[in-house]
Amino acid sequence: MLKMYKSASSISDAKSGKKQSAVIKCWIYRKRSSGGKIFAVVHDHTGTLQCIIDRSTIKQSEWDAIDKAYLESSLIVSGTLRKDERAPGGIEMDVKELNVLHSGEQFPITEYQSAEFLLDVRHLWLRSQRMRMIMRARSYVFSYLREFLDRHKFYEITPPLLTVSGGETGANLFEVEYFDRKVYLTESSQLYAEAMVYALDRVYTLAPSYRAEKSRTVKHLAEYWHLEPEMAYFDNAMSMRLQAQLVSYVANKLAKNNDDILKELNVDPQTLLKIRPPFKKMTYEKAIQLLGELGSDKKWADDFGVEEEHLLTKEEEKPIFVYNWPKEIKAFYMPVNKDGGTVACADMLAPRGHGELIGGSERIWKEDELVQRMKEMNLNLENYKWYIDLRKYGSVPHSGFGLGAERLIKWMLNLEHIRDAIPFPRMINRIYP
Ligand code: 4AD
Repeated sequence: MLKMYKSASSISDAKSGKKQSAVIKCWIYRKRSSGGKIFAVVHDHTGTLQCIIDRSTIKQSEWDAIDKAYLESSLIVSGTLRKDERAPGGIEMDVKELNVLHSGEQFPITEYQSAEFLLDVRHLWLRSQRMRMIMRARSYVFSYLREFLDRHKFYEITPPLLTVSGGETGANLFEVEYFDRKVYLTESSQLYAEAMVYALDRVYTLAPSYRAEKSRTVKHLAEYWHLEPEMAYFDNAMSMRLQAQLVSYVANKLAKNNDDILKELNVDPQTLLKIRPPFKKMTYEKAIQLLGELGSDKKWADDFGVEEEHLLTKEEEKPIFVYNWPKEIKAFYMPVNKDGGTVACADMLAPRGHGELIGGSERIWKEDELVQRMKEMNLNLENYKWYIDLRKYGSVPHSGFGLGAERLIKWMLNLEHIRDAIPFPRMINRIYP
């Protein structure tokens, strides 16, 4: 049996048309029998393959085992590969030998199940063809993000996830008991990334952020993976350029390297190949004016919700930037522009109402300006002593941004709900499994 393991190939290799025979480690996806034959569609992480098991050509014990096996039983099959246009993917296997490793119990997931049930059995639902494809795409998206930043000379750094201060993003936070005091699960790693910019010039964190989101929307998770690059000597315009390049790089890589996954998820790679810099930019002021023309009643210093993001992006094929937001609705670390009312920041909104992908800004790099802004916003300076300290010694202008990995995946794969972009979603009504 070990010999069989060693020579095993993946289903996509077996279906490449270059092999006459193969050994495959897989699970049963579908099964039916007719006229002394069992037709079993099996899956592994790369796809599905139809296997034909003929009672007259395999051992009785093997026949009995596959005949009794439940869906999702694990097995190893070995046999010859044959072209057949009727088979999904054009190739099927005539099985010569098989070994059912584990049949276990009847698989609880059948064809028509409610979304809630599928979330309850998420640990099993992750084996479905759809979730397998999304999880593969997720893994590729993470590697393309890292690849891009690596090419642009960024260091990956690892931030603490427990923090004493919080509240800069306006989100509600999760309190945690930390020995004899209360601390928070981090809402963003930005402030720590800023500290490391002075040491390493360009850095990024790819780590979870926690938001005690009470809203039940298709775009909010309580725990999400947050990519936060921070760059010394970058202004907002340079940062926006980099953001457009980063998002385009990932979209193009996915379209070129993973069209098999996109096909399974009904995503046309052409829509992703169109994502190229530059992205359209409009000031917040222009966006408010446009929203008014489109029938919205939003006024100056109102934040945008689902409806506004949809109105602004429903006709767009590429993401757009809305920049220079009113200082009242943005964080304390964003420098106020010359107009006195807006700050040097930008949000990137995904096309077709998929929502905000990125929030970023320049950072105030001078101590007096920072302290004044923090006082204006009634922040407890004690909590931010170390952050202010950074501005006392050789401070430099810098900018950074935060990208929600699941938002990016949701948009690129055109998923209805953000919960499917992460294996084990945490939301207001979901912490299990
Ligand atoms: O706009 P946000 O709150 O910005 C920050 O946290 C900054 N400190 C980032 C920085 O400059 N380093 O969040 C950034 C991004 C959003 O654009 C969105 O993509 C994502 O994080 N995000 C969420 N994703 C999923 N679920 C949630 N509840 C999210 N909240 C924000």
